[in-house]
Amino acid sequence: MAKGVSYFGFTLFAVLPILFTLLPERLWSRRTAKIPHGEERVIILGASSGVGREMALVYARRGARLCVVGRRQEQLNEVVSECEELVGGVGGKNKVLRVSGDFSNVEDMLRLRTLLGMEWGGLDTVIVTAGVSTLRPLMDVAGVEGDNTISTQTGIQNVVEVAAAATRGNYIGPLVAAVTFIPLLSSSSRCPAILLVSSLAALIPPPTRSLYASTKAASLVLYQALSIEHPSIAFTNIIPATIDGNFRASAVDAGTVRRESNEKGRVLNRTQVAKRCVLAVDRHEKTVFLPGGMRFAHILYWVWPALVEWRARVKYNFQI
Ligand SMILES: *[C@@H]1O[C@H](CO)[C@@H](O)[C@H](O)[C@H]1NC(C)=O
Repeated sequence: MAKGVSYFGFTLFAVLPILFTLLPERLWSRRTAKIPHGEERVIILGASSGVGREMALVYARRGARLCVVGRRQEQLNEVVSECEELVGGVGGKNKVLRVSGDFSNVEDMLRLRTLLGMEWGGLDTVIVTAGVSTLRPLMDVAGVEGDNTISTQTGIQNVVEVAAAATRGNYIGPLVAAVTFIPLLSSSSRCPAILLVSSLAALIPPPTRSLYASTKAASLVLYQALSIEHPSIAFTNIIPATIDGNFRASAVDAGTVRRESNEKGRVLNRTQVAKRCVLAVDRHEKTVFLPGGMRFAHILYWVWPALVEWRARVKYNFQI
């Protein structure tokens, strides 16, 4: 009997997602009906480049009320003028707000919240895409060369500083954003949503990216737990493999960088990733792997770790 139940459970588990994707969108997504595209109030943390910038363009194109936030003033100005052209229409020029600031800075985020309260009386959608990369094996960061040297105080101290910078960019930022905006979202939106652009590295450990991966994992689990604590908010986590663009330039462990294996055509197009992110928010999807098949690579890691580790070594050109 117990066996019968578990087989049934397993079949249901396998078949339900397939049935779900076959249903027409209007049957299971009510967000667009509740918040028309032209009324959606969206903030994008990390809009000055990469996927965040592309998402700003997607939202601008469909007429959203948009607030772009980033650290780099010049790039931010470019994004704003591109968005303003796309928003167009009557009063379009007033729609795009810009705030230059750091999402791990409490004062910056409070200033942003005050502005949103004044301009929009609240918000509907928070997009968290900002983050920093790290590119080197941990012992390189510690200044250890070969097997015959030990780590020095300076070396260990350096690792601590790099880890603090990675934590700030990849964990404290999403943390401050959540604490600042969750209450405002809950009280001011008919259909509040938060999207986190995480990384496949948060689930499948990559060599040379230990600090990046572990800090991204921290914010992913944070948002997964928050989504249980706040069931009225739709949390979406995007788990992408490598995306095109120059995210590597944000590395907080600058130094000699190992050449990666040249796997052209395997990087994701950031314009397409951005479109998929917006769709995921509209549909209230919880977790989106990009490419979709990576959902299974993640499971495979627990079943056959040696295979996935070998693959990771090849991808990051880390042969020992
Ligand atoms: C990414 O995709 C868009 C279409 O969605 C296309 O216009 C653009 O050229 C692509 N970029 C690259 C680098 O392939």
